[in-house]
Amino acid sequence: MDVSIIGGTGKQGFGIALRLAEARHHVIIGSRAEEHAREVAARVRERVGTGARVDGAMNDQAAGAADVVFVTVPPDAQTDVYRAIAPHLRPYAIVVDTTNLLAPLVKERPGEIGVPQDTSAAEEAAKLLPEGVTLVAGFQTVSAARLQDLGRPPEGDVLLCGDDSEAKATVGSLVEDMPGLRWVDAGGLSMARAVERLTALLISVNKRYGIKSASVHLLGHETFGLPPEE
Ligand SMILES: NC(=O)c1ccc[n+]([C@@H]2O[C@H](COP(=O)([O-])OP(=O)(O)OC[C@H]3O[C@@H](n4cnc5c(N)ncnc54)[C@H](OP(=O)(O)O)[C@@H]3O)[C@@H](O)[C@H]2O)c1
Repeated sequence: MDVSIIGGTGKQGFGIALRLAEARHHVIIGSRAEEHAREVAARVRERVGTGARVDGAMNDQAAGAADVVFVTVPPDAQTDVYRAIAPHLRPYAIVVDTTNLLAPLVKERPGEIGVPQDTSAAEEAAKLLPEGVTLVAGFQTVSAARLQDLGRPPEGDVLLCGDDSEAKATVGSLVEDMPGLRWVDAGGLSMARAVERLTALLISVNKRYGIKSASVHLLGHETFGLPPEE
């Protein structure tokens, strides 16, 4: 599958690009600077080795180059980036948002985060997308450090939130291509509020133990993935 990553030059985007390229997907790294995108694409090809198909492009070109488009930019860049890419997205694209709105707050003031009660980064992003484009929130609880460590499979569950089950299954199929990770249909897009709080908790645990990759693994079901039809 062709998959674009807006802000794919950064920590989380680079990690996702490595894992997708390893699984033989065609990855388009997006950046505000084409040269930077190309350099990072070359780094992904070098790390993954023979057979990796990875290109670099400006964010707007990358947005129009695939049916699945990850957005991996810092929370304070999210609105501007969505406004910039929205006109370039394919009519029925799936956008995968990884934003942790709370991450900078937890890092600044661990233990006393002001949590917005009635929205999430993902829901705010969805408001900026054209009709027909679907947003799935995911990967907020998956550490970039672990994704980038190709010597070890990442571990844990990717909690996918969204209002379109088919779109979640499409993103889930990409997760299934990443050994070590499972995907879980965590519910509608508003459940991203809970995932963002959970991510705040993981960051706090990371700080306490001096680690970078605390993650989530749900018990109670062997496989998760595609839920049974209602
Ligand atoms: N790091 C993690 O472990 C992790 C884990 C889970 C989720 N996340 C979430 O994933 C997202 C990306 O995190 P990250 O750590 O990868 O961030 P990052 O490395 O700081 O930034 C990612 C990319 O975003 C672009 N960018 C930065 N500032 C921008 C701006 N003002 N406007 C437009 N683009 C800008 C840059 O690309 P160009 O300069 O090439 O345009 C940068 O390489 C965040 O929302 C974060 O909360 C991160």
